[in-house]
Amino acid sequence: MTRVLSCIQPTGEVHLGNYLGALRNWVIGQDKADVFHGIVDLHALTVTEKPGVLGANTLQLAAMLFAVGLDPDIATVFVQSHIVEHSQLGWIMECTVSFGELSRMTQFKDKSAKREAEFVSAGLFTYPALQAADIVLYDANEVPVGDDQRQHIEITRDIAIRFNHRFGETFVIPKAVTPASGARVMDLQNPTAKMSKSGDDDSGVIYLLDTPAAIEKKFKRAVTDSDSEVVFDRERKPGISNLLEILAASTNTTPQKAAESYTRYGDLKSASAQAVIAMLSPIQAKYDELLRDKAELMRLIHKGNDRARAVASATLERAHKSIGFLGCN
Ligand code: TYM
Repeated sequence: MTRVLSCIQPTGEVHLGNYLGALRNWVIGQDKADVFHGIVDLHALTVTEKPGVLGANTLQLAAMLFAVGLDPDIATVFVQSHIVEHSQLGWIMECTVSFGELSRMTQFKDKSAKREAEFVSAGLFTYPALQAADIVLYDANEVPVGDDQRQHIEITRDIAIRFNHRFGETFVIPKAVTPASGARVMDLQNPTAKMSKSGDDDSGVIYLLDTPAAIEKKFKRAVTDSDSEVVFDRERKPGISNLLEILAASTNTTPQKAAESYTRYGDLKSASAQAVIAMLSPIQAKYDELLRDKAELMRLIHKGNDRARAVASATLERAHKSIGFLGCN
């Protein structure tokens, strides 16, 4: 059976890009494969400096993962810091990737530039090594992610191949899987930049917990393009194309087909808003219900952790044996 692994950071609220680019596919995947999904709090620590924030965000994110439809009976949802094997294999991965390779990561360049005036941790730089550990620990064949994570999956492949070459066949080589539509949801105010929770201004970001009124307002104010033609053309019409892609992804059609039904920008905006509201309202109701019972949420997390730990510890042991640490053979 195909093994799937993908993770999300507990930094800020989950947005429409996370949902259409990743979470929705995780849910679809759980009926076809053996799926592992991590809340990667150690990754979030690269940009977190206040006590208590990570724990609270992690619990809320767990509720959101179950609310979007991950079924704790078949999907393994775990918390990264609870599985010590991640940090242990993370170090080994750091020793298997070069400084040059890490320097070429566009996410590091973007994030460190944005944090220019703040503390740029070494963890932000070595982040892809920990991400590689997350993936290979679970023998993942497929990693369902948004487009922005492609480079991180590529470097994971390079690291795993190098390790296998140095120490013998140990890790499965994973591949990235991105959705046909929704792989790159753009900011409604700046349709040439991806929708992201790290921006200062979130008027172009749709959060999964936004009220219908907030969603309508954000779509109404979405930046469009200079002429008034509704066509899907990412290069020439980034604003309209983003709306078409969101509408298509939310109603299971293609952006080209969605374009055929609209001649006016205003109609396209309100249809997109309504489609997103309809898609999110059952998720919001489920989320509220799940967060009311924190003890049950903790139980589900521990259940996922136990399953994750069993797989991760076996892989780490295999890696230790391949390296030939004293006493491992
Ligand atoms: P994170 O937490 O930033 O995002 C979680 C998932 O959401 C996708 N995504 C998007 N998809 C489409 N359009 C967007 N605007 C958009 N923004 C975010 C991301 O591609 C991702 O799939 N480094 C990862 C977390 C990670 C991970 C892993 C992922 C750590 N270890 C192992 C996969 C496997 C990250 O920061 O994702």
